Amino acid sequence: MPVPLDYTRRTLDDIRAGSPEHVETLFTDLRADFDAAAAAVDTAGAWKSLRDAWLGRKSGILSAITDNWLKPAPPELKRAVGAALNQIKAHVEAVIEERRLAVEASADQLALAAERTDLSLPGVARPIGTRHILRQTMDDFERIFLSLGYSVAQGPEIETPYYNFEALNIPETHPARDTMDTFYLDLPPGALTQYLLRTHTSPVQVRTMEKQQPPVRIIVPGKVYRRDNPDSTHSYMFHQVEGLAVDTDITFCEFKGTIEYFIREFFGPKVKTRFRPSYFPFTEPSAEVDASCIFCDGAGCRICKYSGWIELFGSGMVDPAVYGFVNYDAKKLCGFAFGLGVDRFAMLKYGIDDIQLFFQNDVRFLRQFS
Ligand code: DAH
Repeated sequence: MPVPLDYTRRTLDDIRAGSPEHVETLFTDLRADFDAAAAAVDTAGAWKSLRDAWLGRKSGILSAITDNWLKPAPPELKRAVGAALNQIKAHVEAVIEERRLAVEASADQLALAAERTDLSLPGVARPIGTRHILRQTMDDFERIFLSLGYSVAQGPEIETPYYNFEALNIPETHPARDTMDTFYLDLPPGALTQYLLRTHTSPVQVRTMEKQQPPVRIIVPGKVYRRDNPDSTHSYMFHQVEGLAVDTDITFCEFKGTIEYFIREFFGPKVKTRFRPSYFPFTEPSAEVDASCIFCDGAGCRICKYSGWIELFGSGMVDPAVYGFVNYDAKKLCGFAFGLGVDRFAMLKYGIDDIQLFFQNDVRFLRQFS
């Protein structure tokens, strides 16, 4: 910082040679120098230099003046020098404090300005997610069956052979076990229970009836697993919705009516339903439900192999043997059950020809169903 007057070399003689007026001039010049220096301070660094230059204990200007002007001053000038020194000291201290506040305030301003959001900048477009088409399809099933008084039940994906097979009237030697290639979990050493990935949602029928007395009306949406070779219609993991209704007065008629209503609600009012005799260990009689082909309205096309009908899912009246496993009174109770493939339903409804598309998470595919 330029200091025009060389305060530190002022000698006793300079002061002695002076008069009270000379002292006044010296201090007026000094003050003007300080004011000019203080006015130029605009950063924290410059402020520190100013403070050290003027108030520094060892080499500060005011200390030098005390040593060189006040201490050697002759008695007749001492009062005047002392009073002027006190005045300038008070002035310097006050101004330095004032500058400190000003510099801090402008630093805050700068920081705020740097942080300010520029509202004129273009925004970043964030893609909006959608419910997966399989989730949407399951939501449709839930909506339809909730309107019929059903509730939604769930069960574990890791199951025991008891719930997945035995309690559904599929004993160990039953050939039906072979048709469902099952993933078994490694048995930890010493473990007594074998676990598997459920091959269908039917075990939740048993789990629900164990916990709940009739009437029971549930649907069970969920994931199931099979050791199938992946191709356009097979996947290791796919989705089913199980349905179960048990009460004292359920007839085959209610069963058919419920299924027909559900199919029309899902595929549209034109679609017809037919029941073909079939076999499942846990239903008697069992039926395969077909729908009139939704692509050709039953006229015959490549998709329905020119039969006019498309096979949809398995169903039937609950086999009394199943009631035995859950301590239901088979003589008093009656019910029906069904189990359908969600993926297959979605493929038919939306004309999707490859089940793998559901699981590849290509947004170009998923976006079509937003
Ligand atoms: N669980 C059978 C399967 O995955 C489907 C099924 C058929 C479920 C008939 C049922 C039923 O509840 O009654 O192949």
